[in-house]
Amino acid sequence: MSATAQRYTAVAIVLHWAIAAAILFMIPLGLWMHEEAENGNVSQGLFEAYQLHKSIGLTVLALSVVRLGWRLANPPPPLPVHMPGWEKFVAKLTHWAFYALIIALPLTGWLYVSAGWSIHDEAPLPVPTHWFGLFEVPHLFGLNQASLDVREDAAEAALTTHAYLGFTALGLVALHVAAALKHHFFDRDETLAHMVPGVRAPFEKEAPPKNPVRLAVLGVGLSLVTVAAVAALFTVATLGSAAPQAPPSTFEAVEAEPTAPETPNVGAPDSAPVAPTAVPRWTVDARSSSIGFAYEYEDENGSTPFNGRFTRWRADIRFDPSNLDASSAVVRIETASASTGVTAHDGALPSAEWFNAGAHPMAEFRTTRIRSRGGNQYEARGRLTIRGQSRDVSLPFTLSIDGDRASMRGSTTIDRNDFGVGEGGSGDDLISRDIQLTIRVDATRAR
Ligand code: HEM
Repeated sequence: MSATAQRYTAVAIVLHWAIAAAILFMIPLGLWMHEEAENGNVSQGLFEAYQLHKSIGLTVLALSVVRLGWRLANPPPPLPVHMPGWEKFVAKLTHWAFYALIIALPLTGWLYVSAGWSIHDEAPLPVPTHWFGLFEVPHLFGLNQASLDVREDAAEAALTTHAYLGFTALGLVALHVAAALKHHFFDRDETLAHMVPGVRAPFEKEAPPKNPVRLAVLGVGLSLVTVAAVAALFTVATLGSAAPQAPPSTFEAVEAEPTAPETPNVGAPDSAPVAPTAVPRWTVDARSSSIGFAYEYEDENGSTPFNGRFTRWRADIRFDPSNLDASSAVVRIETASASTGVTAHDGALPSAEWFNAGAHPMAEFRTTRIRSRGGNQYEARGRLTIRGQSRDVSLPFTLSIDGDRASMRGSTTIDRNDFGVGEGGSGDDLISRDIQLTIRVDATRAR
């Protein structure tokens, strides 16, 4: 037995601890993301957590390939001579299982995101991967251009495997750590000292000779791993504050969920202009009224339509078909309430790139003129303000009034770039500029 134990090379040690730290960080992060997405969390913070997870995971993949190459070129120190054959076999098996795992685990994650299909929404969800915000990572095997059936099957298979491999990694890590500790404290051999800098094998009388190059590689490498780990923990800890804070609602009771018919969503906006009292005021029925929007997601695969709506808005409507000059409407919408039901889109919509809900919590449509176009056809002209930018908009609509009940349906198309929504951002090329707005209002004449 030698007086000092052999070690792994400094490069192998740095790669070992970098990959180990990343995997231990990524498993709880991945499980948390999965749980949150399953529970319908659509915050920007979760969206950023996905990007962080993907960026670290792809880094692990790159480091793992380097590590495998390094391992093949630099044989590790021999296993302790006293180890029985079966234990050597299990140790080698575990080590090779680890190599397979640290490559297959990130690869299956990459396959899942390449399919561009959300298993939570059971709908297409092509989200580009930006490596730490620096460049876009391509999708694997052109999967995002396959048919929707293939994408769905690939996503299901890839994420199921990803999850199983994550749990297998946890099991292997537990086995691996237990074995290393057993070797150090019970067998009192050099196994742990092979990989942990500064740890001496129990039988070693003196510290191993100092090699300045080795010490420099270890020092710099492990310091970088520590800094990266602290940065990753800090990023996760601040993800909550990265989520756009929903602006405090100016509405008393505002959820316009069709599933919650008892909840009124509209009333007079705070700053509504007051039309002459001779013009009747109309109270909007939250159960059947809605403000919807529709757009196309366009990539190499073609176009996928998406529909959403604003769940919090209110309107002040003064309308008399025989006195259109005195009629008016003001609609105020909470931009953070935009919802498509698709996790990633809903997470992104309130962000600075799209509605910038933190700085511009409200959008507003304020009529300047309402005119008849014959029969039950009308046109409302007005100023639409989104992100603080105003444009003239024309909204053709039909109106039927039956006693004290009125029913209005209107639709118009706007160019989102007129309001700087998504302009120049990462999704600008993917989301159609034309956004179709569909307004449906059922109202009762106020007494
Ligand atoms: C060190 C490498 C990685 C580890 C240890 C890891 C681990 C995990 C784990 C344990 C989960 C939870 C699985 C579930 O319960 O469904 C997960 C989820 C996820 N991983 Fe990874 N992952 C790694 C790399 C990657 C990479 C490279 C990508 C993509 C480029 C990726 C994308 C994802 C996505 C999108 C989810 C969430 C899926 C969902 O919405 O439920 N992962 N990861």
